[in-house]
Amino acid sequence: LPSFFLPQVLANKNITITAGPTREAIDPVRYISNHSSGKMGYALAQAAQWLGAKVNLISGPTSLETPGGITKISISDAEQMLQAAQEYTQNCDIFISCAAVADYKMKQVAPQKMKKTSDELTLELERNPDILASIASLAQKPFCVGFAAETQNLAHYAKDKMQRKNLDMIIANDVSNQAIGFNSNDNAVTVFWPKGSVEIEQTDKQNLAIHLLQLIAAQYEEK
Ligand code: CTP
Ligand code: CA
Repeated sequence: LPSFFLPQVLANKNITITAGPTREAIDPVRYISNHSSGKMGYALAQAAQWLGAKVNLISGPTSLETPGGITKISISDAEQMLQAAQEYTQNCDIFISCAAVADYKMKQVAPQKMKKTSDELTLELERNPDILASIASLAQKPFCVGFAAETQNLAHYAKDKMQRKNLDMIIANDVSNQAIGFNSNDNAVTVFWPKGSVEIEQTDKQNLAIHLLQLIAAQYEEK
């Protein structure tokens, strides 16, 4: 996709995007994670760059290549992603939280490899920090865009998340549909902002990313 055909609606904008899964250590050799491929976040980073933005991509472990002209910050767990997000949103116009952040981490990471000494094992977990909510609560907050991965009551849960986290926009994803979402190349979403919404039908993630960023640019300008 030749970027010079795209109107440079994000020229001179600093955009920070989180992408991929996080990995929460259990012990030195094991972790808790999820099936996020990072494809949507990387597609957004590429699209933002094509539309003229300066892009910082904070990424959990993925097998994807970093698009050219983008600054990638590699992290592993949610605490590291939070630190990077705080650093890279200081001079930032738009923050897009696309990462599938693990909701919980080990209360205490085992310092040595755990041995299978019993028939049952219970891990004690505690909540991870909410990265998006913490950035969106800053006094000098960037335009904040979140994702909502839901298997039911999509619109209701998505709008609720937008309100609770003080977001400017939320992109709702039906993850019960196997053909789209997490590991797929395609996605279909409904986008909500405080005064409106739009459905984007199934398309490949790169095409979707361009549409989403054009929407984000328009709402950013209106705000
Ligand atoms: N998010 C985040 N930090 C977390 C959890 C989520 O920044 N610790 C962000 C995600 O990147 C996404 C949005 O918050 O943009 C919503 O994530 P989601 O998992 O759908 O919602 P949660 O708030 O975690 O609630 P739940 O999983 O219970 O639905
Ligand atoms: Ca979650």
